[in-house]
Amino acid sequence: MNQYLEMFKTDGYFVIKDAITPEQAARFRELSDNYFDNYPVNPFMGGLTVPGWAGAISELEELNTFHKDASMLDVAGAALGCDDFIYTDHSDLHRDIVTLWHRDHFDYGLGAPGSEPFQGFNEDGFWGDRDQLVAPALEDEQYPDGFWSDEHNVVKMCFLLQDHKDNDLGLWMMAGSHKPGVRGEERCLRSSPTDLIVFDHRIMHRGQVQARQYHQSYPQGRVLLAWGYGADNQYTRQFMAGCNERQEFYRQRTRLANVK
Ligand SMILES: [Fe+2]
Repeated sequence: MNQYLEMFKTDGYFVIKDAITPEQAARFRELSDNYFDNYPVNPFMGGLTVPGWAGAISELEELNTFHKDASMLDVAGAALGCDDFIYTDHSDLHRDIVTLWHRDHFDYGLGAPGSEPFQGFNEDGFWGDRDQLVAPALEDEQYPDGFWSDEHNVVKMCFLLQDHKDNDLGLWMMAGSHKPGVRGEERCLRSSPTDLIVFDHRIMHRGQVQARQYHQSYPQGRVLLAWGYGADNQYTRQFMAGCNERQEFYRQRTRLANVK
C-alpha cells in the first residue's frame, strides 16, 4: 500500500490493480445492468444514473452493501490516513453518462444553505466546466475557507466495470491538481474492471466526452460504481450534506418520473 500512498500524495489518485476478482466484477456488472434494465432510474447527462444507491437498493444484492466490505474500508482508511473516517452517503451508479473536467467540490459547495442544485452543470447540461479542456482558475475565491487544507480529506473510490486498456473512454485525471495552483498533467487511466480507482475529490478529473462514447463502440454500456469516504470532521460533513441534497433531488425526480 505504501507505494500507492506516495502516488496519492503527489498525484492525487492511485489505482489498485485487481482489487476484486474477475468473477466479482462480472457479478457487479450483471447486478448493475439488471437494475438499469428493469427498475426506475434517472436519465442523466446522456445516460442513466441511480443516485445514492449504496445501502438503499436490496435488488443490487451484495453490491448494495459492498461499501461496508472490509476490503473497501481498509483502502479508504489507508488513503485517508486515519481510522476515524466515515462513509459519506455518496454513491454513484452510472451507465453511459458524459462528464467533462470537474472537481467533485460541486457537491461540497452545493451543501451550503440556499445554493442551487444545478450550478455544477454547463450550458449543454453536462456536469463539468464549460470548456472541457481548460481547468478552472485555481486558488480563486470560489473555494471556501479550508478547501485546500489537509484536514479537508475526502476520497472517492470507484470501479469502471468494463475494460479501458485499449480505449480512452474510462477516467482521466489531471495529476497533482488536488493541490492549489497545480494544473497537472492529463492522464488517461487504462483500467480493467477489477481495478479500484481512488482519488482525492478535489482533483480535476473527467469521464468520457460527447464526441465518442463507449456504448457506441462496444456491445455493452459503460458502467461506473463510485463511493465516497472522508475523515470524520466538518469538511466531510459539508460534503455529505451537499451529496445528500443532490441525491435526494434526483431520487424525487426518479419517483416522479415513474408515476404513471
Ligand atoms: Fe467526479
